[in-house]
Amino acid sequence: MTKFDETMIQMENDPEIQKLRQFRQHGSSNTYDHCRSVARSADRLGRWLGWEVDGEELARGAMLHDYYLYDTRDMTISDYQHGVKHPETALKNAGKLYELSEKETNIIRSHMWPLTLFHVPKSREAVLVCAADKAVATREFFHSGVQALKKRAQLGA
Ligand SMILES: [Fe+2]
Ligand SMILES: [Fe+2]
Repeated sequence: MTKFDETMIQMENDPEIQKLRQFRQHGSSNTYDHCRSVARSADRLGRWLGWEVDGEELARGAMLHDYYLYDTRDMTISDYQHGVKHPETALKNAGKLYELSEKETNIIRSHMWPLTLFHVPKSREAVLVCAADKAVATREFFHSGVQALKKRAQLGA
């Protein structure tokens, strides 16, 4: 078993990580499923590129990248404010529970780049999470759009 897979199992079984299930993300998914998809996609992308990465830091950074612990539907902040601020909130929350390496800190803080202009991904692992997050979010967004259209079509039928 790779270090990435080993760390993923640990993270997936962690009750603090399981808490992410209660928060909705991008329409149809929840934050736990989203973080898991981002981690798996980042790992796949890294292998496809032939990059040597630290599997443990990649898994931990990816699983904690959205550890902001709120539902955007319950918030009064704008999408832009959420986009800019939630990496710092995630980092603060995650930092209370886990001892984060410099690389893991940067993975979380820079995952919204280029929106967060000055927090640039500084490692291969951070680049992979930043790219995978965008790909997964886009897929989830379209999936929820298709679901809504299907529902509408059924209602009209
Ligand atoms: Fe995020
Ligand atoms: Fe994300």
